[in-house]
This record gives sequence, C-alpha cells and structure tokens, in this order.
Amino acid sequence: MSYPYQLTTLDAYHDAYRRSVADPEEFWADIAENFLWKKKWDKVLEWNFTEPKIEWFKGGKLNITENCIDRHLELKADDPAIIWEPNNPEERTRIVTYARLHKRVCQFAQVLKNNGVKKGDRVCIYMGMVPELAYAVLGCARIGAIHSVIFGGFSAQSIADRLEDAQATFIVTCDGAYRGGKDIPLKSIIDDALIGNKTIQRVIVYTRTRTPVSMIKGRDVWWEDEMEFAETQVEREGVVSFPAEEMDAEDPLFILYTSGSTGKPKGVVHTCAGYMIWTNYTFVNVFQYTPGEVHFCTADIGWITGHSYIVYGPLSAGGTSLMFEGIPTWPDAGRFWDIVQKHKVNILYTAPTAIRSLMGFGLEPIDGKNLSSLRVLGTVGEPINEEAWHWYNENIGHKNCPVVDTWWQTETAGTLISNLAGVTPSKPSWATLPLPGVQPLLVDENGKEVTEKDEHGYYNGNLCIKAPWPGILRTTYGDHERCRTNYFATYPGLYFTGDGCLKDENGNYRITGRVDDVLNVSGHRIGTAEVENAINMHSGVVESAVVGYPHDIKGQGIYAYVIVNHKHGDDDLTKRDINQTVSRIIGAIAKPDKIQFVSGLPKTRSGKIMRRILRKIAEGESGNLGDTSTLLDPGIVEEIRSGKL
Ligand code: PRX
Repeated sequence: MSYPYQLTTLDAYHDAYRRSVADPEEFWADIAENFLWKKKWDKVLEWNFTEPKIEWFKGGKLNITENCIDRHLELKADDPAIIWEPNNPEERTRIVTYARLHKRVCQFAQVLKNNGVKKGDRVCIYMGMVPELAYAVLGCARIGAIHSVIFGGFSAQSIADRLEDAQATFIVTCDGAYRGGKDIPLKSIIDDALIGNKTIQRVIVYTRTRTPVSMIKGRDVWWEDEMEFAETQVEREGVVSFPAEEMDAEDPLFILYTSGSTGKPKGVVHTCAGYMIWTNYTFVNVFQYTPGEVHFCTADIGWITGHSYIVYGPLSAGGTSLMFEGIPTWPDAGRFWDIVQKHKVNILYTAPTAIRSLMGFGLEPIDGKNLSSLRVLGTVGEPINEEAWHWYNENIGHKNCPVVDTWWQTETAGTLISNLAGVTPSKPSWATLPLPGVQPLLVDENGKEVTEKDEHGYYNGNLCIKAPWPGILRTTYGDHERCRTNYFATYPGLYFTGDGCLKDENGNYRITGRVDDVLNVSGHRIGTAEVENAINMHSGVVESAVVGYPHDIKGQGIYAYVIVNHKHGDDDLTKRDINQTVSRIIGAIAKPDKIQFVSGLPKTRSGKIMRRILRKIAEGESGNLGDTSTLLDPGIVEEIRSGKL
C-alpha cells in the first residue's frame, strides 16, 4: 500500500498546507477517501469554538478496526502488525501478524459481548505493555465500547476517581506487569480501587506474571478462559469474524484522562473518524513511513503517544509497530539499542527524558550495536534541549537520520507541529512547522496576536490554534463546560494549548513549556493543584504549594513548599510520609523531588499564593523576585529563600 497523501517534497508540503487552509473541507475530504467507510459523510466539517462544537465527517459511518485490521488482510495477512519485545530479553519475542491480530481482536470483542459489554459502555483498561492490551483496546473499538486506558503507574485512588468520572462498567487488567526489575501487582491495585465502587460489573484478568490474585466470584473472570470459550463459540457457531459495529464518525472512540491546572484530571474525548484520520495522516507524513518498516514508539499505551503511535496510527497505515514491555535501562542501558539491532528498527520515537537519561551512561552501551537500520528518529512529550538533540542525532542517528521534534498534546490526538522527516528542514530544539490543517497563532496575555519581535528577534507568546483539525478533542467526558472553560474561553474564538512558544521569521515554532499550572515531569503531565491536594491529605500538613524547577533528566522536577503542624519523627521521615501519601493518592510519578518545610507561604492580601516567587526561588533565580510589595508578609520570602534546597 502506498499513501497518496504522503508529502514527500518541500513543495508538496507547502502546497498541501496552502490548500488545507484555503479549503479545509475539500482538503480533508480528499484524504478521507483513502479510508474504509460503511457510509460516506454528509458534511466534512461543522464547527464553532464558542460552545465549542466540532464535527468532522458528520453522517459518515465506519469502524476504526476495519481500517486498522480488516482492510489489510487481503495483502498483508502474514505481515507483522505488532512485534512484541518482552521485558526480559531472555523471553521469546512475539510476532502478531495482521491475520492473528484480526483473530484475537474479534475473539476479544466476542468476550466483551459475552460479558455484557455494549456499544457506548466505558471499559477501563489497566494493563502492562503486552499485545493483549492492544487486543483489548481494539476489541472495545470493534464493538463500539469506549475504552479508557489508565497508565500502570497510577494508584488505586487515581483509578477509582477515573472509574467514577467515566461511570465505567468493565475493567480489563493483568495479574501483574513486569517493568524492569519490578513486578507491579496490577490486579491488587484494581481490587483496592474497587472498594466502594458501585458501577463495575466485571473484571477480566489476563495472566502475565502469575502473581497470586484474589478472584471474586461473579465479578472477576480470567482472560484465558473467556478467550477459549469465545474460540469454541466461533467454531460452534461458524463465526469467522466478529462483525465490526457501525459507528458514527462522531461517536466517542475513547476517553483518556490528563492533568490540567485544576485538581481533577479531565477525561479527554476523541471520536472515531477524526481521530483515525489525524493519527494516520500524521504518522504517514511526520515519519515518512514506508510500508514494511518497523516503527518503534517507546511510549506506554497508557498515554496518548502510545494510543496514537503504537496502536492506531501505525495499524491504520498497515504498518509494523514494535511494542516494548520494559524500560530503557533494564537489564542495562543498552536495551533500546539491542532492540533496534534485533528487530532492525527503522523509526525510533522516544522522549527527551529517555535520551537524557541514556546520555548519562555514556557511549559504552551503544558500542558495537548495529543501528544501521535506523532511518528516522523522533522525540515527543517535552521540549528537547540542544545537547540531547545533538547527542541523539550524532550517536544514534550518526547524522544520517532526520530527527523529528513532534509537538502535540493528549487533546490534539496527534502531532500538530513538527518537521516531516527528510522533507522539511529540522532545527535543533524547534518543533518547526505546522502540519497541514494546523493554524497556530501566538497571542499576548490579552489575546492579541503578537506582531512585534522580542529582543532575541522572535515572536514570543501563548500558543493558540485558530481552527479545528480532525483530531481536536470534542469534549471532556461528562462536563462539556469544563472543556469550554479550559481550552476555549481564555482567548475567545481560539483553542488555547497552555504552552508558551517562540516563532522565528521563517515561521518555525519552538515550544518553551507550559504557561499554566501544569508540570511536565519526564514527559508526564501533572497538575500542581493535584499534587498539592495529595500533599494536603497528609494528616500533619496545613498547606502546600507546588512548582516546577529545571531537572537535568526529568526536564522538570516537582518542588513542594509545605507547612506542617505536626512532624511525626524527624524531617526526613515526615518527608517520606508525605511522599507515601502522594504515591497513594496519585501514584509514584507525582512524588515531589524536593520538599521544603516553611512556616508560611507568600500570599497577596487577598490570600492568593504568589507562585511566581516560589517558582523563581525553586529555579534558583531568587536574585530577581520582581515586585513583592503586594505581599501580606514580605518577611516570609527571606525565610523561604534562605531555606532553599
Ligand atoms: O507542554 C507540551 C509538551 O507536553 C504537553 C502535552 O502533554 P501530553 O498531553 O501528556 O502529551 C504528551 C505527548 C504528546 C504539551 O502541552 N510537549 C509535547 N511535545 C512537545 C512538548 N513540548 C515541547 N516539544 C515537544 N515536542
């Protein structure tokens, strides 16, 4: 299969960009023709950013799994859809062909049906990185159930909150997951999450680590038993393929929770057709994917990157997606390079934090590894510093592989700003140019377009997007008003990304980081308010304020200023108690890197915490704190500054 919409020259990019802005409906209709529809759309696009209301391909009927699987069967039944590399390199690799993927997804769709799952039901998936996770996701999509994958690093409490918000009725999980030297007891965490839950009817448990699990009669069933039954059913009833549910273009495909500036994560909703087209289009164009190539996205499917560039993007393109269960540093820091060599990986897509962490091990883990199969390198999730960019380019790509710096968000479904590998120029630490269909705009605090350059010769402002692309979020689950206020109300008429950004005179964009109260720790999005809420749950804590600070490996670290009224044990022990509390409430990923005990927080007379000051102190830039005259108690600043960790 070739991709008629693949832009392989700079001129083709510019031409497509121009057309996409001049007539988006015609542009996207042409691209949508390349997919499998049960019924074509009536209207390509209807939208306003006021409500907001965004509808792509309205009236169209399709099933994304037919696009990701069935349509490839004729020519690619025996080609690998998923290559699975286990955590333990001694264990056998699994190759899932398109034929096998079809069989397993249909079988699992049957399992869901047998267990009472219906179109529109919310199914929570909490699994390690095993192929069965992909079967579960696609099985849901096959029958039209809405999947909500939760990353394995989230705690029982976080899961409980998400189950409640989504009113989920089914869970698919594993007994446990292997990650590096650790076994994570997923089912046991689910059991904790289910204490007090009133909506979950069934938990389907896949055996991975064979750790002991409590299986509750009437609620918990084994994946293997269910799959076996579905298989005999298929034989008995002569069903060869589970029919793909007819979905409306705008029916929800999944919910994925992500952090914002408020205390509660939001359930970002993506819909069937727009999401499919956007992930496919960006996959094919950004990486310049060529059929037959092995694409290795190192993310976890619990995050949007895994949804879009392990599952839906590559599979909808009939590609081969490499799925890795483990972590880059286990059993040693050469693991990625072993995988590249072993599976002749062509495209490697990872996070700057992983690159920085591997840089710390020097060149020895790369020595002697054959990386010559690599054609394209990619980064995602956070700004990449120039040093890491060059290290990646020189030592992994040997300056032969274009590096694509892809900027996007959970809310955008796929990449919005990036160079196209080998087609449009790269610029270290710049995401560069918008994809066709994406119209960025930099605005000042008042929402006015930035038209003057700063002292460095750049336009500098808050990054907004002027018009919808097919993958834009449609709503936040169960609370549309929240979607409006979060993304569409700050600057009326615009989608606000929450990111700060520079633009050079050639139209290249460089993302500088969040301008709201959202941290990006090792490429994971965490709201400061969420962490504060979790810290404040600790019985000895009166109040806290959380900010980010530059961290060599994580990009940003979490710095917490905490007022305690009671220390149980010494300072160190109390800090560990606080960390334990955060792990319980959110998950280990949100544990503060630094906790400073303070006797007060800098507040305005109206009681607002002056985070700007706390941020400056945490960043080690307390020489210039700006105006502190509006503080209720200016003395507190000195105390905090002198106690900085
Ligand atoms: O701040 C931007 C940063 O990650 C945020 C989105 O996080 P999340 O929804 O978890 O999605 C991450 C994977 C797409 C953005 O608002 N970000 C993402 N990619 C980049 C980036 N910052 C700079 N450069 C990037 N390439």
